[in-house]
Amino acid sequence: MIKAIDIRKTAPRHRLKKSDFLRVRDIIGKQSLKTPFLILSRSAVRNNLDALAAAMPGVKIYYAVKANNHQAILEEIAKAGHSFDVASFSELEQIRCAGGLPENCIHSHPIKSPQEIENAINAGTNTFVIDNFDEIEKFIPYSGKVRLLIRFKVAESNAVVNLSYKFGCEPDEVIELAHKIHDYGLDYYGLTFHVGSQCLDSNVYVRAIKTAAEIRDRLKADGFETKLLDIGGGFPVQYIKSILSIDRFCKPINKILGTKFADDTIIACEPGRYISASAVTLVATVIGKSIRSGKNWYFLDDGVYGSFSGRIYDHCKYQVYTNRNTVWKESVLAGPTCDSFDVIYDDILLPPLEIGNILLFPAMGAYTSVSASTFNGLRKAEYIVLE
Ligand SMILES: Cc1ncc(COP(=O)(O)O)c(C=O)c1O
Repeated sequence: MIKAIDIRKTAPRHRLKKSDFLRVRDIIGKQSLKTPFLILSRSAVRNNLDALAAAMPGVKIYYAVKANNHQAILEEIAKAGHSFDVASFSELEQIRCAGGLPENCIHSHPIKSPQEIENAINAGTNTFVIDNFDEIEKFIPYSGKVRLLIRFKVAESNAVVNLSYKFGCEPDEVIELAHKIHDYGLDYYGLTFHVGSQCLDSNVYVRAIKTAAEIRDRLKADGFETKLLDIGGGFPVQYIKSILSIDRFCKPINKILGTKFADDTIIACEPGRYISASAVTLVATVIGKSIRSGKNWYFLDDGVYGSFSGRIYDHCKYQVYTNRNTVWKESVLAGPTCDSFDVIYDDILLPPLEIGNILLFPAMGAYTSVSASTFNGLRKAEYIVLE
């Protein structure tokens, strides 16, 4: 069961402090802001980028825009000289507006409409991902203009979100796909995989990298050069359970890359969650309460149709911070819409709350606002951007 954290008693390992509540009150007062809102810290984005870059020296970072496409995040990434992984032409446009270069992006969506491909190529993107024969055919008109990465499936996953169910060919299919690419007069560029999002065990990367090395050797025997290996995203974020530091997490990955890909293969990664999640804190207010079957129910002004959409699509549980009296009681935390489905937690330990009390939810920057809706005519949480 999740237990809210009393912000007045937080140990140093926790990200939020009492002063954060005071700062939130200050922000609300100064800007006459109404909750729900999301506080985005540019410096946190920079710190996350630097931490990942330091944990995997020599690995090129392509930020996965799908995790959070807020302009301030994209600007920080572009300013720091990193690149982007996009799933659509519209994301390419957002990158351009933030000062990024579409020509440095990887379009990593394995299934794209022909129009999507044409738009991305016209915007200057030339690196695309495929995982099946029909997808290759869509690129025939663009011979000489594109280079293709083949995505293979990761057999096992220790990730919260499995990304090998829908995408990725069998490792054994890669050779045939590379030949098909060549037969159509197109360029095979390299390999990619995704271990799944919020991956908790870096040995899954290690095994996938070993598989990539075996495939690379078989391709080489057939005359194909693997110029790039893209190890995808998946790098984990501290939500409720403790996780390894990014340095410790990446150590086994660096080691296997050093033994299996010590040549001049370019190594890339596509982190989304790791860069954006901890840079954003949600501020929400209790707008209603009741007692049902002996349990306290609290209704917030944000819910699963809004910023908590990640409870559904991302299978994610976010930590709750309170500055209220800590007589913990089993409670239900629900969202503001008329739908009974709109329950954030039905088994949470909360202190007694009153209408108007504020709760803070850290690490709400990945797969949250991007999939939020305005269901019931309720507005989405706005962002306020801090340096
Ligand atoms: C192709 C691809 N790359 C990168 C990512 C980002 O993954 P994460 O946020 O786990 O780092 C995703 C997430 O869905 C993805 O589908």
